[in-house]
Amino acid sequence: MKGDGVNVMVADPGPQVEDKDAGATPASALFWDRRYQEGRDGWDLGQPAPPLQDFLGSHPLAPQPPGQVLVPGCGRGHEARLLAELGFAVVGLDFSAEAIAAARQVAAPPGANLRWLQANLFDGQALAAAGLGPASLQGVVEHTCFCAIEPQQRPAYLHIVAELLVPGGWLLGLFWCHGRPAGPPYGSDPGELAGALAEAGLLQALWQPAPYGATGPQQHPRDNEWLGLWHKPPSP
Ligand SMILES: C[S@@+](CC[C@H](N)C(=O)[O-])C[C@H]1O[C@@H](n2cnc3c(N)ncnc32)[C@H](O)[C@@H]1O
Repeated sequence: MKGDGVNVMVADPGPQVEDKDAGATPASALFWDRRYQEGRDGWDLGQPAPPLQDFLGSHPLAPQPPGQVLVPGCGRGHEARLLAELGFAVVGLDFSAEAIAAARQVAAPPGANLRWLQANLFDGQALAAAGLGPASLQGVVEHTCFCAIEPQQRPAYLHIVAELLVPGGWLLGLFWCHGRPAGPPYGSDPGELAGALAEAGLLQALWQPAPYGATGPQQHPRDNEWLGLWHKPPSP
C-alpha cells in the first residue's frame, strides 16, 4: 500500500477496538474517556516524553519562548506543563473530558501561562472560539496524538496544524512509528509520515529515530519512535 499517498500510511492497521470499547472507535472521545477511567492508558508515561524533554532542554535547534504553543491530544498534560515551565504560553487540547479533568488536577508550574481546552481538534468553530485561528500559534508539540488519528483523517490533521502556525512557526513531534497490528491504535511509516508533512507544506529541519539520553526510557521503552522538527515557510 506504500506510495498510495498520505491516506494510507500502514497496511490496514485497524483500530483494535476491544470488546470493552463497545463500538466506540478512536475517533470518539468516549473511546478515550473509557480508557482513562479504566486505567487502560499504557501510553501515559507519567512525565513528559524523555526525547522531547531532552530536545527542548538542550538541542541547538530547540524552539525558544516566547510564543503560543498547542499540544493536541495532550492527555494528562505532561508535555503542556513542561512547555509552560520553559516559558511558552501553552494550550493543552484534548477531546476527552477525563483527560482534561486529570490535566487540571495537577498544579501548573508557578507563573505558568497554561490553559486547558476540551475540544475536538477537527472542530474549527471550537478552536476559533478559543482564539485558535489561522496563524495563531508559534508552535505545535505532537506526542502520541497522530497515532490516535484514523489514517484517513491524518492529512486533515496536518493541514490544521500547518494552518494554525504563523509563517516561520514550528512543529516538534515525537511520532510512534510502530507497525504493530495491535496498536496503539494506528501505526505509521517514517518515510510516508515525512512525505505527508511535506505535502502539508512544512519544511523538515530534523527527522531521526528518537535518541534516548539520561532521562529515559528506563521504565517505558518504546520501539520505533521518531523525533522531528518542521517549520512553516516564512511569508514571501
Ligand atoms: C494515545 S493518547 C496520548 C495522550 C498524551 N499525548 C500522552 O502522550 O500521554 C491520545 C490522546 O489524543 C486524544 N485525541 C484523539 N483524537 C482527538 C481529537 N480528534 N481531538 C482531540 N483530542 C484527541 C485522546 O483523547 C487521547 O487523550
